[in-house]
Amino acid sequence: MFKKSNISNIRFFFKLNKNLNFDIITWHKTNPAPLANMTYLNDTEYCINFRETGCTIKGDLDQKKKYYITSLNKSDKDLFYHPTIKPIHIIKNLIINGSKENDIVLDCFMGSGTTAVACQETNRQFIGFEISEKWCKVANDRLNKVDANGQQCMFLR
Ligand SMILES: C[S@@+](CC[C@H](N)C(=O)[O-])C[C@H]1O[C@@H](n2cnc3c(N)ncnc32)[C@H](O)[C@@H]1O
Repeated sequence: MFKKSNISNIRFFFKLNKNLNFDIITWHKTNPAPLANMTYLNDTEYCINFRETGCTIKGDLDQKKKYYITSLNKSDKDLFYHPTIKPIHIIKNLIINGSKENDIVLDCFMGSGTTAVACQETNRQFIGFEISEKWCKVANDRLNKVDANGQQCMFLR
């Protein structure tokens, strides 16, 4: 997921160079950071789904929607501290829509490991990159149900 300013470059590469079909998926945050300046709120993130002709979206009707309206992931942020942690139900839907069980999902910007946990919960294999040692450790611990304070909890996601 990314900000509006990145859409044109990504779309240009995949649509015009590779001629893939695409959809723009949006996450509308119901509790964005309040801004004191004269701009619109920073309340929307974007995800572009590219696919070759013939590639189907696999989820059910609810999972195939192109918009999400939900709050920032406050409870997971409190557990894992990552500043841009994503809601796991959105990432799970995207994984279900775009892959089958046992497929390998790649996340080049793993952060606190939301995609890895979503893969664990949907029976996908996972490869992740993360430049920061700190977030690598948080993601690995999260997969083992340990939060950023070192607390073990069976109910962590
Ligand atoms: C938007 S955050 C990902 C958040 C993640 N989806 C989550 O829910 O926690 C992007 C992450 O990419 C990492 N990153 C930035 N540049 C990178 C690079 N060149 N290679 C690998 N990771 C990178 C950052 O350290 C940051 O943790």
